[in-house]
Amino acid sequence: MDVLIHLFVGLHIIGIAALLGGFLTQMKAMGEGTARFSPAMLHGALTMLITGVALVGLNQADDNAVNNLKIGIKMALLIVILGLVYVKRDEERVDKALFGAVGALTVANIFIAVLWT
Ligand code: HEM
Repeated sequence: MDVLIHLFVGLHIIGIAALLGGFLTQMKAMGEGTARFSPAMLHGALTMLITGVALVGLNQADDNAVNNLKIGIKMALLIVILGLVYVKRDEERVDKALFGAVGALTVANIFIAVLWT
């Protein structure tokens, strides 16, 4: 079971790479107001949701304690990220503030994950 959990943590991290990478590579465009939500960001956010839910299930099945408050907050932030990226996925230019919010929420989730132990 441990191997399976670590495998899903790895997939979870690939999801972060797609979502955050999509954001970081467009920071200059964001400053110019020409950034857009790329398919990688949408697929990364979806990957986070699917692998995150799987990790909760696998940890519970393995009798590992799951911090429900931490997971609930991460899930709530991700739902906002996913909603914004999904709704605006076809827009060629996304407002600076909106694009920045997705990056900020993603970074917030990373620090919630690693600092809240
Ligand atoms: C943008 C959204 C997210 C980011 C950036 C993120 C980030 C991370 C990171 C860096 C880890 C590895 C560090 C660690 O083990 O604590 C992790 C683990 C984990 N994540 Fe996420 N996550 C996100 C969304 C979610 C969601 C939506 C869920 C659940 C529905 C979730 C559930 C978990 C679980 C269960 C673990 C295993 C370790 C633990 O118990 O904390 N994550 N996440």
